[in-house]
Amino acid sequence: MNLLNVRDLRKYYPIKSGLFSKPSGFLKAVDGVNFSIEVGETLGLVGESGCGKTTIAKIIVKLEKPTSGRVFYRNKDIHSFSRHEEHNYRKEVQMVFQDPHSSLNPRMTARDTVEEALIIHGVGKKERDTRVKELFDSVGLGEELMNRYPHELSGGQKQRISIARALAVNPKLIIADEPVSALDISVQAQILNLLLDLKSKLNLSYLFIAHNLPVIRYISDRVAVIYRGRIVEYATTKELFSNALHPYTEILLSAIPAEGSLRHGQIKTTELNVESGCDFQNICNIASEKCRNVKPDMVAVNKNHFVSCWNH
Ligand SMILES: Nc1ncnc2c1ncn2[C@@H]1O[C@H](COP(=O)(O)OP(=O)(O)OP(=O)(O)O)[C@@H](O)[C@H]1O
Ligand SMILES: [Mg+2]
Repeated sequence: MNLLNVRDLRKYYPIKSGLFSKPSGFLKAVDGVNFSIEVGETLGLVGESGCGKTTIAKIIVKLEKPTSGRVFYRNKDIHSFSRHEEHNYRKEVQMVFQDPHSSLNPRMTARDTVEEALIIHGVGKKERDTRVKELFDSVGLGEELMNRYPHELSGGQKQRISIARALAVNPKLIIADEPVSALDISVQAQILNLLLDLKSKLNLSYLFIAHNLPVIRYISDRVAVIYRGRIVEYATTKELFSNALHPYTEILLSAIPAEGSLRHGQIKTTELNVESGCDFQNICNIASEKCRNVKPDMVAVNKNHFVSCWNH
């Protein structure tokens, strides 16, 4: 069953040289993105810094408005919700951020942070006490940590609090924007396993954003590879990691350094500066005349694999 459906999503930011000057052009942060997430599925979004991942997440949770395109949640456009539907959406779709430290209020104890989400959604005092205990338990935190402030907690503990806060209102979809990037490698694995465990226990769906391909491979059922605001390859995790077809995916896969992360500028983008056609025509073995002139559409290689290419 379809949970989230993103259709031809675009976000263009005006480029201005001065505060009051007219825009000299547009930065196409998101440029025609399509994907969907089924109930119980994890979609991984991967791509280098600045390719538009966070912008997509912010549009879905309504922190940003798209320039054009539509987002459907349970087949309903998120911009034409009734008040009741809007209220439900804000409960059912929760976000977990990269840096647990800056996303927690330094003046609130762990308990207060988790309880606040329950108060906002009108849960009574007695039920709150039980729920807070349950939530601490479900993210593997002992009750003795309840009265600690963020600076008294480790990075992993803080991210567990952020996850408990997101879980407080029984979400269906969690948008996790680089939720483990700020953590030590050993703690990353614990948090990923917690997310996987919660997914099966609570039948959650995730949009999981990362730079790190091994992390994406571990957690995702399907993967969308993004380059400059466009999806270039979209496939089941198995297909993508065994039969990558797009040159950019191949570069990402071959560029995985020991720690698994992609760094900004790792891909030589000078070769990709083209006047027309496909961005990858200069580094692609199968580029044809059409590729020099027209940007490729997404084509289906099979029902589990789509690639932005004229020649597949
Ligand atoms: N409010 C804004 N105004 C103008 N440009 C913006 C704004 N927010 C993002 N951008 C630009 O849009 C592009 C995409 O940014 P975004 O934060 O979505 O990238 P990202 O893929 O999440 O990168 P990272 O991996 O570094 O988090 C970038 O070039 C960024 O500078
Ligand atoms: Mg980001």
